[in-house]
Amino acid sequence: MTASIIDGKALAQQIRAEVLGRTQALKARGIQPALSIIMVGDDPASAVYTKHKVNDSTETGLAATLERYPATLTQDELLARIEALNNDPAVHGILVQLPLPRHMDSQRVIETIAPAKDVDGFHVANAGALMVGRPGFWPCTPHGCMKMLESIGYDLRGKHAVVIGRSNIVGKPMAMMLLGRNATVTICHSATRDLKAMTLQADVVVAAVGKRNVLTADMVKPGAVVIDVGMNTNEAGKLCGDVDFAGVSEVAGWITPVPGGVGPMTRAMLLVNTLEAAERAAN
Ligand code: GUN
Repeated sequence: MTASIIDGKALAQQIRAEVLGRTQALKARGIQPALSIIMVGDDPASAVYTKHKVNDSTETGLAATLERYPATLTQDELLARIEALNNDPAVHGILVQLPLPRHMDSQRVIETIAPAKDVDGFHVANAGALMVGRPGFWPCTPHGCMKMLESIGYDLRGKHAVVIGRSNIVGKPMAMMLLGRNATVTICHSATRDLKAMTLQADVVVAAVGKRNVLTADMVKPGAVVIDVGMNTNEAGKLCGDVDFAGVSEVAGWITPVPGGVGPMTRAMLLVNTLEAAERAAN
């Protein structure tokens, strides 16, 4: 093992402590930062994630409410509920847990959330703000990855960053954030012809595919920084990422583990976004 570990769990703990301090400052001004989470249907993974989000919020002084609705809820009913939360000045952040039932148009639902309360950063207005370098909410996962790079003092200027995955939630915003720090960015995806040829050139690789062993040791330049966004389960039923951790950590300079890497950072950045929504509303 040659790579140093970027400890997302420890960094997230530090960020949560900062959030707690700032929520206390807001409370001293009579403002209670508040997050409303909506979950529709009974997807077991979503039930776990939303529970984490509520607990994380409570621990850092944010008020969080979870509203759960049956999968039979109509889209119009959901949109009406979002509008009510948009108009409630006591609510600073609104998060609709994905996936939504198939009869709903997720993008339409997300775009009903007021951009100033869109703490997931999924609204087109926030995606556009990131694209043109204006203030807005950044999606939590790529934002957490940027914080991890910052934590090791990594200067992205002129470096080649390769992002594997082009989702609206991770890959695309990740590429924009890296570009914003003056990296040369390549986005690879399922139609990329020679992934290995790309990743071998990379000073930084972000793997965000959702498939095990997408990145193996033979694909990594010695000393590269490897960030693993994947959340998969292996044959033993254990949580693992997109990166072959054992192999790649023999070659890379820095690597994020799964669990204990990007996951805790994603959770922490939601708290930061919610707090910032409340701070912006207050100022
Ligand atoms: N489902 C899986 N990840 C997320 C997320 O970050 N936000 C929302 N709203 N739903 C999700």
